[in-house]
Amino acid sequence: MSMNDKKDPKRQTLEQEIKTTVDEETAGLDPSEAGKIREKVRARVLEEVERERRIRTAKERREEERRRREEKRRERLHEEGETFERFNRNFRFQHIVMFTSVIILIVTGMPIKFPEFVLSRFLVGFWGGIHNSTLVHRIGAVMLIYFMVHHLLYTVFSRRGRRDLVLLIPTPKDARDAVQNVRHFLGKTEEKPRFGRFSYIEKFDYWAVYWGCVIMIGSGLFLWFEGIVLKYFPKYILDVALEMHSDEAMLATMAIVIWHFYNVHFNPDRFPGTLMWWHGRISEHEMKEEHPLEYEEIMAKREKQEGAEGPGR
Ligand code: HEM
Repeated sequence: MSMNDKKDPKRQTLEQEIKTTVDEETAGLDPSEAGKIREKVRARVLEEVERERRIRTAKERREEERRRREEKRRERLHEEGETFERFNRNFRFQHIVMFTSVIILIVTGMPIKFPEFVLSRFLVGFWGGIHNSTLVHRIGAVMLIYFMVHHLLYTVFSRRGRRDLVLLIPTPKDARDAVQNVRHFLGKTEEKPRFGRFSYIEKFDYWAVYWGCVIMIGSGLFLWFEGIVLKYFPKYILDVALEMHSDEAMLATMAIVIWHFYNVHFNPDRFPGTLMWWHGRISEHEMKEEHPLEYEEIMAKREKQEGAEGPGR
């Protein structure tokens, strides 16, 4: 403690108060345990006093906030350990195009389905009228078609894409995992199912989007080019396409709002969300918790590689 501190009566009173409280709280404890707690509190208080001393002006306060955030981030990274790439740059780009187009399609499609709804009027007004709104719907549609073509090429021509597609195929283990997960949620078993690169939930999400895109693009093209369709097909085919488009749009919107938002935003482990769609990485902790089989596979591969390279390399 410096001479200056000794002269500050406010600080002396504060220290006295803290000392009395800590002494009271640790009275019944083992002396070494009490000593440790006292030391911890003392260090924390000194840290806080030091911080107070540093932040006299608003600028200093902002600087201090920034320093604290940085410190916290470093601590978190240190706790989380290594990070693993889950989505590569190509896949992240596809994903961003896909969700941007879906958001555009929902906000420009739903007002056609529910024209009387108050939010619909606001949304149509936002684009400057129904003509512009349907035009933007078609721009969103072109983006979604582009995404679908890009994704198909990716799953055929890239090694990562082919590998992921194979791993996304449902297997009997997924059914067993689903049953075990329900039993775990009901408290019937302690053990959670152990997932590989994709859990049954992620596989369901993937194929639901896949199927949804096929239906929406197929029926949407029929609606877009109705003149051509009516040349070759009876009118009821167009009615069926409209029904498919309209109902699947509702299903997709509800699936996103209920299923997807819960899984990636409101799930207590993830709240308020993850930036994985942007940086593509997950922490070692998440890897062990959510994809333990993949984690073990990566570790085993590394060990094998290190073994092959031999000691001393
Ligand atoms: C997630 C994707 C999509 C959603 C949520 C969506 C939503 C909607 C909705 C709700 C409607 C109104 C249906 C009704 O009147 O009941 C609509 C109409 C329409 N959609 Fe989509 N849509 C999607 C994708 C597409 C795609 C990919 C295309 C084109 C390839 C497309 C083209 C059309 C067309 C042409 C209409 C008729 C209205 C108009 O003239 O704009 N949509 N869409």
